Amino acid sequence: MATILVTGGAGYVGSHCCLALKRAGHDVVVFDNLYNGHERFVKWGPFERGDIRDKGRLAEVFAKHKPQAVIHCAALIEVGESVKRPDAFYDNNVTGALVLLEVMREAGVGAFVFSSTCATYGEPQRLPMDETHPQNPVSPYGWTKLMTERASRDIAAAYGMKFAHLRYFNAAGACPDEGIGERHEPESHAIPLALFTLLGRREGFKIFGTDWDTRDGSCLRDYVHTLDLADAHVRAVERLLGGGSSLAANLGTGDGVTVLELLASIERVTGRKVPAAPAPRRDGDAPALVADTTLVKRELGWTPQRGVDAIIADAWKWHAEIEPKVFG
Ligand SMILES: NC(=O)c1ccc[n+]([C@@H]2O[C@H](COP(=O)([O-])OP(=O)(O)OC[C@H]3O[C@@H](n4cnc5c(N)ncnc54)[C@H](O)[C@@H]3O)[C@@H](O)[C@H]2O)c1
Repeated sequence: MATILVTGGAGYVGSHCCLALKRAGHDVVVFDNLYNGHERFVKWGPFERGDIRDKGRLAEVFAKHKPQAVIHCAALIEVGESVKRPDAFYDNNVTGALVLLEVMREAGVGAFVFSSTCATYGEPQRLPMDETHPQNPVSPYGWTKLMTERASRDIAAAYGMKFAHLRYFNAAGACPDEGIGERHEPESHAIPLALFTLLGRREGFKIFGTDWDTRDGSCLRDYVHTLDLADAHVRAVERLLGGGSSLAANLGTGDGVTVLELLASIERVTGRKVPAAPAPRRDGDAPALVADTTLVKRELGWTPQRGVDAIIADAWKWHAEIEPKVFG
């Protein structure tokens, strides 16, 4: 059993990772500046408030808690905002990762699990996308993630560290029974936006493009439950700490869901129909993004356990029932 420092552990994916680590018997320390995180999501270990670009603060936390590994979730994540404020994204995501890696090296911490993304691939050239797919991001956000992958790979090679780059497809779902779920400001993800229309928090839901080359004309995405994502992080960290080799792995289901299928699932699960209307295609959207999951199955023995209806059921319980109680 190890002590794992989770940067961004007060955020959406990070808090689920903390829960999964604790359930697996590890000790967890959360490091987060609360720019987008929530202190009430920190429940499974001590909270250290700080910014990953603040070397002195990070070094102090490493000296105090002596973690054996880091799961690095802290980042600015909104793709559209990264186009408007690329400097802020490069500073936060790339400089922040470099400072973190420097502190890890100085503290002798050699295991780095990184929240990467399918956005590092850019326009899909083939589907499903495996880890050898060319990486050519189309947004500053995607570039910050690819640059961090590259830097951590080179730094690991030079200083005898190990990395796991986990390229998530679409994170979704929640763990309402533990009081954690998706809460981004601003929210840009399809599932919460669709559910907000049922809760009267939004007017309607737009289907961006109905003439794509997919089975029903709407965009197709690969949604993975955050509890499944979290399980993959536990496996990755245990692999590195157990002497296993570095890897880059897709985290997806290998099974895409179209926007229309998503809306049908919401209707099945909630018994209510989302008021949805077709809208023109958005610049930069790909028709379909689906993970090839062969490598992650083989290397981490990981297969997601929850399908789209389970994702919607948990997201719905979170937004409709639990989130209002947690946030008052
Ligand atoms: N949500 C998705 O669908 C998705 C998909 C692919 C990859 N990712 C990656 O997963 C990670 C977590 O995403 P999320 O959806 O949980 O986002 P989130 O915004 O909920 O969590 C990010 C956390 O990082 C913290 N943070 C940001 N900058 C920081 C800094 N400089 N110092 C300390 N803390 C800082 C925020 O306060 C927040 O708690 C991110 O790295 C994101 O790029 C997410």
